[in-house]
Amino acid sequence: MSNTSAPRPDAGREPLAGHFDREIDLSRVPVHVACVMDGNGRWASARGLQRTDGHAAGEVALLDAVEGALELGVKWLTMFAFSTENWRRPADEVRYLMGFNESLLVRRRDELNDKGVRIRFAGRRDWRVPRRVLRRMDESEELTSSNKRMTLTMAFNYGGRAEIVDAVRRIVDDGLRAGQVDERALRARLYHPDQPDPDLVVRTSGEYRISNFLLWQLAYSELVFSDVLWPDFRREHLFDAVREYQRRDRRYGGVAR
Ligand code: FPP
Repeated sequence: MSNTSAPRPDAGREPLAGHFDREIDLSRVPVHVACVMDGNGRWASARGLQRTDGHAAGEVALLDAVEGALELGVKWLTMFAFSTENWRRPADEVRYLMGFNESLLVRRRDELNDKGVRIRFAGRRDWRVPRRVLRRMDESEELTSSNKRMTLTMAFNYGGRAEIVDAVRRIVDDGLRAGQVDERALRARLYHPDQPDPDLVVRTSGEYRISNFLLWQLAYSELVFSDVLWPDFRREHLFDAVREYQRRDRRYGGVAR
């Protein structure tokens, strides 16, 4: 198994004191953190605002989570921005989220590039995603492609089941026989086979679901649920999730260490 919370030889050993009193062991930071950014709509309703105002407020949370992840030395951060099921939302909200993805990239990609963040997208690039949004996605990936500090993957028009279906389609296209199909063959055909499985998944807003996120990759991830609504999420909440992660005993189906 490639991902463990075992000490990384290159990691610093000094603990990071956050706003909470417990410390983070920087030698056991999750390599890959994935987030379900949930609760934007409820955050907005509670303030008498439109749901789209909640998504807009989620941008600050997203950027702060990126900063926090960089501070910790997280190498891979994956954010669920738009699911294959989100097309069922009212047309104006869908239109807003498409445009928001585009404008967020235009406004933030240089700053992310300067911080050494590689931007990538995971999901279906189908006809439903406006062409100009796809263009910004391609440009942002291209601009940041050689960055090494962290890979920020935006799961956009993403569904875990769709990703597995797409991998199976590739297996068929590649002409594999039944006996040649194993976990390795399937993994190699996921959207980003080079990406390690998430060590830690954080879902906000007090919902306890996976919601079709990274179904293949989450097999042994540690799940942390937070009651905070996404627009209120800040790096301290990420640090708290990492502390919780560091209290877990990852056994991968084996026995206690
Ligand atoms: C879930 O909250 C959130 C989303 C569907 C979108 C999350 C996106 C962002 C925070 C910003 C980045 C977005 C893009 C497109 C780059 P919800 O609307 O389901 O909230 P609710 O459960 O309270 O209704």
